[in-house]
Amino acid sequence: MQLTTLNDFLVWAESSFLAQNLVFGHGTNNAWDEAVALALSVLKLPPTVDASVGERVLSLEEKKVLLHLMNRRIQEQIPVPYLTHEAWFANLSFYVDERVIIPRSPFAELILNGFQPWLGQRPVRHILDLCTGSGCIAIACAKVFPDATIHAVDISKDALDVARQNVQLHQCEEQVQLIQSDLFSGCGETRYDIIISNPPYVDSQEIAILPPEYRWEPQLALVAGKDGLSIVHQILQQAPKHLTETGLLFVEVGNSMEALLMEYPQFPFTWLEFERGGEGVFMLEAGDTQWQQS
Ligand SMILES: C[S@@+](CC[C@H](N)C(=O)[O-])C[C@H]1O[C@@H](n2cnc3c(N)ncnc32)[C@H](O)[C@@H]1O
Repeated sequence: MQLTTLNDFLVWAESSFLAQNLVFGHGTNNAWDEAVALALSVLKLPPTVDASVGERVLSLEEKKVLLHLMNRRIQEQIPVPYLTHEAWFANLSFYVDERVIIPRSPFAELILNGFQPWLGQRPVRHILDLCTGSGCIAIACAKVFPDATIHAVDISKDALDVARQNVQLHQCEEQVQLIQSDLFSGCGETRYDIIISNPPYVDSQEIAILPPEYRWEPQLALVAGKDGLSIVHQILQQAPKHLTETGLLFVEVGNSMEALLMEYPQFPFTWLEFERGGEGVFMLEAGDTQWQQS
């Protein structure tokens, strides 16, 4: 096949990806979008670019880079964002490498909606992003709430090094403070208006059968004991002490939602729905005594 335009590459990459039975779950869910993500990142174009860009004639150098990365995607089953070192979250571009998981949380939609309708008229002065990884959630919150201070916590120094790079990239050093801490232990006395967390929540059964693409991600970011809830148990226990009186807690638990409901049948969880897909995210209000007393 003649490889002249960007569209030629996309058609070829899509069919090659499909032929190899790759798994798509790192920002895309199909072979075409995966090819587009690879190409746009290499060509330094935003995801919002007009479809007419497909007619663009590729230079020899561009073709070489695209083919090289496409082959690595197929042969090594590396997710595209680790090849391009770029992932998009809440309409922002983030640097990523294998020290952090690739941003893909449905929290992006919640943040872009300003946490409405849950937040209502509550003031937002302090936000805590527990388990920040690349810093994507903390930084997206900083953009939506420019007057808030954000604490971004992770236990991994490697992850915080990546988050620091992203904080600098998005010039929010004044607003986002990175803290190396085992959950709340380094948070001090601050009471937060919002605590948001996408913690590790994959149970041991699911870990054992994860497709090869997920094995490139840090295990510390995924593994969470037999029931997938080892970190979530601690968050539920400790969060009330760190929320303001009207504070809100948002936690993503993915497929561990069922185990959570069995463990905490008395908790007044609100389960969020997302227009752009995703599930397994709950909200609890600090004011809800049913939760605090449990
Ligand atoms: C699922 S990743 C989420 C990363 C990022 N928030 C996102 O949504 O892309 C979970 C993160 O939790 C961190 N982590 C694991 N155990 C932790 C703990 N006990 N305290 C703080 N962070 C922890 C991992 O290092 C990892 O970066």
